[in-house]
Amino acid sequence: MSSAALPHGEPRLLMRGIHKSFGAVHALSNVDFEVYGGEVVGLVGDNGAGKSTLIKVISGVGPPDSGEILVEGQPVKITSPQVATRLGIETVYQDLALCDNLDVVANLFLGREEFSAMRFLKEIEMEQRGLEVLRTLDVKIPSLRSPVASLSGGQRQSIAVSKAILRNARVVLLDEPTAALGVAQTRQVLDLICRLRDQGLAIVVISHNLADVFEVVDRVIVLRLGRRVATFDVKSTTPERVIAAITGAEFGE
Ligand SMILES: Nc1ncnc2c1ncn2[C@@H]1O[C@H](COP(=O)(O)OP(=O)(O)OP(=O)(O)O)[C@@H](O)[C@H]1O
Ligand SMILES: [Mg+2]
Repeated sequence: MSSAALPHGEPRLLMRGIHKSFGAVHALSNVDFEVYGGEVVGLVGDNGAGKSTLIKVISGVGPPDSGEILVEGQPVKITSPQVATRLGIETVYQDLALCDNLDVVANLFLGREEFSAMRFLKEIEMEQRGLEVLRTLDVKIPSLRSPVASLSGGQRQSIAVSKAILRNARVVLLDEPTAALGVAQTRQVLDLICRLRDQGLAIVVISHNLADVFEVVDRVIVLRLGRRVATFDVKSTTPERVIAAITGAEFGE
């Protein structure tokens, strides 16, 4: 297996020996996984490799059959998405996150556990907090009052990420963040990922697009048939080697 140097200190998220089966299918077999604060990890693999299953384990949507999960060194059981949120883990899916007919501010605060309390916040306060986060992340949108239906794919993705940040995320999982985006929009989202990393967040990006992976990712973790088969430091590898690991050709193991 190719190896990559790990950052120093405690991983923000550490998983050991994760197993998950669906009937006879071993979607994840003895998978270890780690991501550190201030790092972007690319999770890659062919269709059916187990990427989404692993993300579901981390986000509390589909807890594992067995294995250990530690968040900042503390053992945890991520039994639901609410538990994940409480642990500072947020997942941004390509299309599911936003309500088209609501404006940007409403989307930023929608679905929060404390939403009913938030309703009593003055609109202006929500707007200010929303604006603050968008400004910190340098997200450019026409207006906070634009319905998200009127935004570009890149802007929508940025709003979904900003929403995770407003929930005080410490680990952000991005499932195919640039699929279906144009060149300029992809640029916008990749820049945003870099800014999140610079702010010390731990980021996991699932992507089939190796060009994107090589642009923003620090380490690449490769799954094949439910097993972690390789880990690369992007600075010292090539797309060809990563593809070989994905497909099981010579360099993979
Ligand atoms: N809910 C489920 N019920 C049964 N089998 C499942 C379920 N979810 C995933 N699987 C199986 O587990 C394996 C891993 O699937 P997973 O969705 O994690 O792959 P993936 O790496 O995300 O693939 P893709 O790139 O196509 O999204 C596959 O064999 C899949 O058929
Ligand atoms: Mg998937």
